[in-house]
Amino acid sequence: MMNKPIFNVEEVNKIIRNRRSMFVAQFKENDPVDDSIISELLENANWAPTHKLTEPWRFIVFSGEGLKKFAEFQADLYKQRSEKSGNFSEATYTKLKENPLKASHVIAIGMRRDLKANLPEMEEIAAVAMAVQNMYLTASARGLAAYWGTGGCTFWPEAKEFFGLGEADQLMGFFFVAKPASDRWPQGKRSPISEKVTWIK
Ligand SMILES: Cc1cc2nc3c(=O)[nH]c(=O)nc-3n(C[C@H](O)[C@H](O)[C@H](O)COP(=O)(O)O)c2cc1C
Repeated sequence: MMNKPIFNVEEVNKIIRNRRSMFVAQFKENDPVDDSIISELLENANWAPTHKLTEPWRFIVFSGEGLKKFAEFQADLYKQRSEKSGNFSEATYTKLKENPLKASHVIAIGMRRDLKANLPEMEEIAAVAMAVQNMYLTASARGLAAYWGTGGCTFWPEAKEFFGLGEADQLMGFFFVAKPASDRWPQGKRSPISEKVTWIK
C-alpha cells in the first residue's frame, strides 16, 4: 500500500469532458510528435484496468518510414481482396495508401487472448478499450489531434498476422496521432446522461 494520492477532480472532469477526436483532415502534416509523448500515451494505456491482470493490449507504433509500410500493407491487401470480389475502388485504394502518411504516429490496437485466464472475450476487449481511452485522454491533455479509427484492414482476418496477432486475437483498429493544424478545439456533442440512466432507490 502507499499513501493516498491527492487528485484534482476539477482537472479530471475537464479532461474527460473535453477530450476530443480530431481526424486526418485536421492533422498538421510533416511535423511529427516527439516519440517521448507517444511513450507517455502508451505508458498510460498500460495502466488500464484488467481482469486477472491479463493486460491484453498489444500495440504496434508506426512512424516515419513505418507509416509507409503500414499504408502499403493495407492498400495492397485491399487491392487483393477487392479484385477477388470485383469491387475495387481507386479512391479507396488511394485513401488507404495516403491517409496514414498524414499522421505523425499510427498505433495499431491489438487484443491478445490469454486462453488460460478463461475470461469472456468481452472483458478483454473492454480492457483494451480502456487502454485506448487512457491514450485518448493523454493525447487531448497534450493538445494533440487523435482518434480511434476502425477502418482499413481492422476487420480483415488475414491482416492479423502483420500486426503480430494470432487467430484468437483481435485487431481493434488504429489510434491516429498528430499535431493539430489549428488551435481551435472541436465542440463535444452528447445527449444528456439522464436519458441513459435508470436510478433505482
Ligand atoms: C471503438 C471506436 C471506433 C471508432 N471508429 C471510428 C472510425 O472508424 N472513424 C471515425 O471517423 N471515427 C471513429 N471513432 C471516433 C468517433 O467518431 C468519435 O469518438 C465520435 O465522433 C465522438 O467524438 P469525440 O471523440 O470527439 O467525443 C471511433 C470511436 C470508437 C470508440
